[in-house]
Amino acid sequence: MTIELTLDETLVLEPAAADLLFREGRTANKFTNDPVSEEQARSIVELVKMGPTAFNNQPLRVTYVRSEDAKERLVPHLAGGNQEKTRNAPLSAILSYDADWHEHFPTFNPGAQQLKSMFDDNAEGRHKLGNNNANLQAGYFIMAVRSLGLAAGPMSGYDAEALDADFFPEGNTHSFMVVNIGYPAEGAWGERLPRLNYDDVVTTV
Ligand SMILES: Cc1cc2nc3c(=O)[nH]c(=O)nc-3n(C[C@H](O)[C@H](O)[C@H](O)COP(=O)(O)O)c2cc1C
Repeated sequence: MTIELTLDETLVLEPAAADLLFREGRTANKFTNDPVSEEQARSIVELVKMGPTAFNNQPLRVTYVRSEDAKERLVPHLAGGNQEKTRNAPLSAILSYDADWHEHFPTFNPGAQQLKSMFDDNAEGRHKLGNNNANLQAGYFIMAVRSLGLAAGPMSGYDAEALDADFFPEGNTHSFMVVNIGYPAEGAWGERLPRLNYDDVVTTV
């Protein structure tokens, strides 16, 4: 569907939608047994891919961990406090970046393929841009989960080296976050931590 905007007609999210994504949306630590469907898992990624990235490079890779066997492989790599909630979440996602994202230049930016050569011999640049933009996409991922009425539980408390050796032995895929996904159960979160004020974080020059 295409939404056509005229100059005097600006599309703004309803307050209830902003509540769902930001004001009421919370990080969940406990999930119900209700499943997250394949269709929902696909819808998350279909939304994420539309968010902006540098060169349109889309370096995020998602590994959905759904089966009990795969969960049992994932859980030992997590910090103690992250293990039980991950075992009990109906779906978990390992978010990683592809350090060889530049190989896809012809697909993600067919009009600027010549830029690929800038990165062929620049592994450091590829890692930096891959990591930065995949983390940006991880933000879209969390909001996409919330937009579907689900809750996300992002975690960076895990042994990335061990997880990568286990799940990505080929060596060019680097995880940076694990996200639990599901419907929040009773007691999924406690009191909300304070946010910094506008004046503490904004400088206008
Ligand atoms: C990148 C990232 C890493 C996090 N790592 C962990 C973690 O390892 N364990 C954990 O219990 N919570 C983790 N959190 C959850 C944060 O503490 C939580 O999102 C934050 O306090 C805001 O909570 P709220 O959404 O309920 O307001 C992480 C969140 C993010 C975005």
